[in-house]
Amino acid sequence: MNVDELRSKYIEFFKSKNHAQIQGKSLLPDNDPTVLFTTAGMHPLVPYLLGETHPAGKRLVDYQKCIRTGDIESVGDPGHLTFFEMLGNWSLGDYFKEGAITMSFEFLTSPQWLGIPLEKIGVTVFEGDETVPRDEESAAVWKRLGVSEERIKYRPRSDNWWGPVGATGPCGPDSEMFIDMGKEPCGPDCGPGCSCGKWLEIWNDVFMQYNKNAEGGYEPLKRTCVDTGMGIERTITILNGKKSVYETEIFAPIIQAVEKAGAYVYATDPDKDMSVRIICDHIRASVFILGDPKAVSPSNGGAGYVLRRLIRRAVRHGRKLGVSGAVLSPIAQVIIDQMKGPYPELAENQAYIIQELDKEEEKFLETLQKGEHEFEKMLPNLLKDPRKIMSGQAAFKLYDTYGFPIELTEELAREQGMTINRAEFEEAFKQHQALSRSGSEQLFKGGLGDQGETAIKYHTATHLLHQALRKVLGNHVAQKGSNITAERMRFDFSHNAPMTADEISSVQNIVNDQIKRNLGVAMEVMSLDDAKASGAIALFGEKYESQVKVYTIGDFSKEVCGGPHVERTGTMGYFRIQKEQSSSAGIRRIRAVLE
Ligand code: ALA
Repeated sequence: MNVDELRSKYIEFFKSKNHAQIQGKSLLPDNDPTVLFTTAGMHPLVPYLLGETHPAGKRLVDYQKCIRTGDIESVGDPGHLTFFEMLGNWSLGDYFKEGAITMSFEFLTSPQWLGIPLEKIGVTVFEGDETVPRDEESAAVWKRLGVSEERIKYRPRSDNWWGPVGATGPCGPDSEMFIDMGKEPCGPDCGPGCSCGKWLEIWNDVFMQYNKNAEGGYEPLKRTCVDTGMGIERTITILNGKKSVYETEIFAPIIQAVEKAGAYVYATDPDKDMSVRIICDHIRASVFILGDPKAVSPSNGGAGYVLRRLIRRAVRHGRKLGVSGAVLSPIAQVIIDQMKGPYPELAENQAYIIQELDKEEEKFLETLQKGEHEFEKMLPNLLKDPRKIMSGQAAFKLYDTYGFPIELTEELAREQGMTINRAEFEEAFKQHQALSRSGSEQLFKGGLGDQGETAIKYHTATHLLHQALRKVLGNHVAQKGSNITAERMRFDFSHNAPMTADEISSVQNIVNDQIKRNLGVAMEVMSLDDAKASGAIALFGEKYESQVKVYTIGDFSKEVCGGPHVERTGTMGYFRIQKEQSSSAGIRRIRAVLE
């Protein structure tokens, strides 16, 4: 089974079940400031899942381009892709569990469609919790269709609950479908949903029943809906018995193009293979972002920043293969030719894609050259150190002034028999630059343009203010945006009435008390579910941001956030609210300064 066959069989099957095929949408979501990219097939359908009437009817099917950047650092391993395609079918108040599962089962097992033997299929269903009951209904449907009981596993919310995409929106319990890869079970509890590698997920039927509101509550939807998602790349890998997406026909021509560009033969050196895979993935994602009708270009903020990171990371990995000049556009051309059938926008925007890639690649190569030149200038001084250690400050200067990546400084130092004081570098980095690294996360929080010490103090002040507002006004208060300059902060939050003078002064006093207490600020990395379970306030909640940073300020505040923050609150100064006003319907705005 190849990709084109899978795509068209899926669409054909659901059309035969009275679904209307709709067009996949842009990779850049409309009217959704909480996420940078379309991360799932259902994303453009959120308004319809919430109750709007869809012009094409109540049964829909499509394929949708998606980007997930939560785990950009793990790209290159066998399972992670930044860009992927998702097949999906929807019921907008039409069929529910029984209908969805019956159709999924037929598509998976019927010889006319995927023809997967019944004994290879296993499923999971929601085990229930204090708010939503155990999903006996879905389990009963699977059983009736012939799936044996030991292949129907009940799993908790962390596994069998989907959505919302952002902080709010449609969500519900789901039932996931897995293929048995034939390995021995890893233990007595091994079964569908186990992560040992025996069971691989190919499809997810979500039973949209709730709208998560801004207060974190779950309101029943006006009508129940079904949202399903089947990742094309994963499914092709599994159906063809491959160990990795990079072994499939999807990546074969791209790998070939990288081999050619890097004069390297794939599968001869594990480190270089990783670089090849990263280049393939990142250029593929970049081609789709650049090829989107919304025409993003590399920049220092939002989606443009992610694009810049993808391209620059590809260039760096090209260097690991020994590439010196510009090589990305021939690789991009292969991807355009391969994908322009289902995505004609790639052909339409071909000139723009190539031009922007070339431009960014050139720019970064120049940066690298400049950095290397500066390193050479520093070298005589560096070599005077008898311990052969380059100070973290010197390495940071290259990073900060020339944008020269630390990994490359390390490479250059190594060539001279030197090491870098990484702890010192990290310290300098933490103080000044952590912001640029988490640029996309900043967007969720409203953007931090300035990266100086004052901005960091204001950033910590937003957390104190957020919590103080919740204490004084109630837990319905949720941050809706923030804007920080070196002079002041602005903070938008949900609340329905103007604040009274007493409320304003209580909030201000509470914040100042926390500053006076000189609370320590601690950061921990954990899964989003653990973060929420620990009581952290999360402003955006994507299932696939697998790891998040949680900042705790003493015993006072806990928030999911990209950082950075001050180490102790005592350094922040006096917090004064200058103004409290309306921002838009139901949203208030506070302007405050640290003096
Ligand atoms: N929206 C669901 C997913 O992405 C189907 O898995």
